[in-house]
Amino acid sequence: MPRIYIDTYGCQMNVADSELLFGLLGAEGFVRTGDPADADVLLVNTCAVRDHAEQRVLGRLGELKRFKREGGVLGVVGCMAQRLGPRLLERVPQVDLVIGPDGYRSLPELVGRARLGERAAETEFRGWEHYEDVPVARDHGASAFVTVQRGCDYRCTFCVVPMTRGPERSRTLSDVVREVRDLAARGTTEVTLLGQTVNSYHDGVHDFADLLRAVGAVDGIRRLRFTSPYPTDFTDRVLAAMAETPAVCEHVHLPMQSGSSRVLKRMRRRYTREGYLEVVRALRARVPGITLSTDIIVGFPGETEEDFAETVSLVQEVGFDEAYTFKYSPREGTPAVRLHDHVPDAVAGERLERLIAVARGIARQRNVVLVGRTEEVLVEGPAKRGRLLQTRTRGNRIVLVDGPGDWIGSYRRVRLTGTTGSTFTGWPLDREGVLVG
Ligand code: 5AD
Repeated sequence: MPRIYIDTYGCQMNVADSELLFGLLGAEGFVRTGDPADADVLLVNTCAVRDHAEQRVLGRLGELKRFKREGGVLGVVGCMAQRLGPRLLERVPQVDLVIGPDGYRSLPELVGRARLGERAAETEFRGWEHYEDVPVARDHGASAFVTVQRGCDYRCTFCVVPMTRGPERSRTLSDVVREVRDLAARGTTEVTLLGQTVNSYHDGVHDFADLLRAVGAVDGIRRLRFTSPYPTDFTDRVLAAMAETPAVCEHVHLPMQSGSSRVLKRMRRRYTREGYLEVVRALRARVPGITLSTDIIVGFPGETEEDFAETVSLVQEVGFDEAYTFKYSPREGTPAVRLHDHVPDAVAGERLERLIAVARGIARQRNVVLVGRTEEVLVEGPAKRGRLLQTRTRGNRIVLVDGPGDWIGSYRRVRLTGTTGSTFTGWPLDREGVLVG
């Protein structure tokens, strides 16, 4: 049987899309391998959001071409594939196929043609595509990603995603609920709903509030998460659904991008600094104890030292539990590349370092006071390093715990015993609250 290997870069939606790609080729008799040397078909599922992401893919393609065997296939899929299309075939001669996020149905056909020596790129947008009938090949564990919306209709001036994932569309609520019921029947207890602006979900009849309530009501779903929401799409209905659906976890990733209203306007974000703070206040009022993470870009064209100071002060004012910080990366074809007042790279780099230090300090302050608390965690798997287990709280905090492998997939109570400032160590407690081990 032919074997397929996939490397996945970028966001959670790419992780979900790779499961879809395994499903598509699985239906054609392909089996999955974790070893590129063993593969007949090598795919790289790519990200285009920053130049750095694309450079990593090009580097990886340089390595993978060594594993391409006689009659083997090397393909690039995802956002970078969509962005570059046939240009990628010219640039990397060993690449046989290029497919964007709306063209995955063509994968089996393009693989077949590539095996006959034909190279092709498929970058058509299909504004209705949800791959509804494709069997997603997941590793059935406690957690699952469920894509509920594809594409993006927002037009943030820095962002390439509308050009790579096409127009926004939502799956129907009943299709999502059917999938979640199937997952729950196989033992899934945690679901993360995915969409580029997931809380703008609307299937023509139901909004995101309806979706949260419906998925949260599925028997066996104990934790419900979603990513990434758009700040101003937290309507009162959505806030109420979050507050009233016990499965909805007390964590939101709330991309802020900048703390300066002037910069936010140039980014074409639909809120001001004050507007963002209002969303934060509303979330905290409706969901007590909610943790907040964010994305921030520094060095956007025209960002002055004063604008940057506003970003730092907003980070302090909100008090994020976690912040992902990025240096602005110009993306061909996006409106922001036409802005001429570029921030020198050294200045952006220095601002990035200052911001990281502030954000780390705040996260540490928020975390140290939690040591000693008891939390429910889901045991996710072995820790990336060492022999402990990685677990996660409802608030999305990572806790490393000493325990047997058969705890993976189960919920435990742990006492937080220490923190690095960002992650925790914890002691498992038994049902009566007695320390185990
Ligand atoms: N440059 C730097 N960061 C970007 N992001 C999106 N586009 C760019 C860009 N051109 C960041 C945003 C977004 C996250 C996924 O990536 O912060 O929320």
